[in-house]
Amino acid sequence: MIIHLIAAARPNFMKIAPLYHALKKESWAAPVIVHTGQHYDLNMSDVFFKDFGLPQPDVHLNVGSGTHAEQTGHVMIAYEKVLMERRPDLVVVVGDVNSTAAATLAAVKLGVKVAHLEAGLRSFDRTMPEEINRLVTDALSDIVWTPSADGDENLLREGVDRKKIHRVGNIMIDSLVMMKKQIESADAFSALNIERGGFALVTLHRPSNVDSPEQLGRICDILHHIASRLFVVFPVHPRTLKNLEQEKRIESLRQNPRIILREPLGYVAFMNLVHNSRFLLTDSGGVQEETTFLGIPCLTLRPNTERPVTVTQGTNTLCTIGDVEQMVGDILSGKYKKGSVPDLWDGNTAQRIVKNIKNLFLST
Ligand code: UD1
Ligand code: UDP
Repeated sequence: MIIHLIAAARPNFMKIAPLYHALKKESWAAPVIVHTGQHYDLNMSDVFFKDFGLPQPDVHLNVGSGTHAEQTGHVMIAYEKVLMERRPDLVVVVGDVNSTAAATLAAVKLGVKVAHLEAGLRSFDRTMPEEINRLVTDALSDIVWTPSADGDENLLREGVDRKKIHRVGNIMIDSLVMMKKQIESADAFSALNIERGGFALVTLHRPSNVDSPEQLGRICDILHHIASRLFVVFPVHPRTLKNLEQEKRIESLRQNPRIILREPLGYVAFMNLVHNSRFLLTDSGGVQEETTFLGIPCLTLRPNTERPVTVTQGTNTLCTIGDVEQMVGDILSGKYKKGSVPDLWDGNTAQRIVKNIKNLFLST
């Protein structure tokens, strides 16, 4: 059974890796990695292949950056050709990036079955490009693999056939469990020469935060404020770097001796920092889940989340910039909430998916 695993952007690699390795062990499965090329810098793509022991992609579409329509259109055109030549038995798409929706559209129109991993998440905010990608992908997929109960509920409410929905758990946690030893023995934190828990780790890349000069300015101010209390370590996403440079905000961050700027980090190095940090300030989707699993406070600079269980059950709090000062105070004084780990966030999601594919495609 030929199974295409579509990888495109940073948050995709940690979702396909555990599934690739699990499928590779099955005699009936031939997993094929298709890289659309949405992310292409060494530290936004190649580093993850090395980290997760993945082979080079079997197919590379090299689409690169562009507007939403350009990127979506380029993936559709390039992937349609591959689909026509190779006719896989199943296409697995993950997450919510433009390539996820594009590969789904190309495949379903050719009658190729699509499974969406990390289905059913909803922020209910259609100004987010990812929400549009989620809606399109879930509506069109033949199989929807959800990480948590809210995912099932969202899909049922939208009229998705119950038979298509399979709650398999959170694949991001499989990556964490799979890479535990490497993460613990990495030297990213020790190389910083600061105390364990003596820094806040920051990742920001949402257009709503970093494309608006006013919001970006407010974010820089709050980073300086946090740095007055503890170190700030900030691996800067390429979108964010471009805007910080354009708005001439990067220099003052560089000049603050308690703000440590880095290029985007590989998964193992980044997770090694997460483990040793006091808290995260982020707008990432995946980081909200990783911190909930690890029990580390996470302040999410967004008005909503498609991962509500990280707030209701985990260590995540949605914040405005105005809330951050108070929340940091709560964290540093030990008043911040403790969380727990949601069901099926256990490192066995890839195994459940393999079983599910076998049941659906191979049982007579
Ligand atoms: C994309 C996803 C977002 C995801 C994020 C993960 C969409 C709509 N957005 O956002 O959901 O959370 O990836 O990081 O699919 N760039 C580089 N090098 C790269 C990649 C990008 O320099 O390897 C720069 C380019 O200037 C590009 C910009 O970053 O125009 C944005 O890249 P793009 O993939 O369009 O969106 P992201 O903000 O990365
Ligand atoms: N991540 C990483 N290096 C970094 C920042 C994040 O490896 O410098 C990882 C992070 O641990 C998580 C994933 O990238 O597994 C999340 O990707 P991102 O925040 O880019 O996208 P989102 O999840 O918001 O779509």
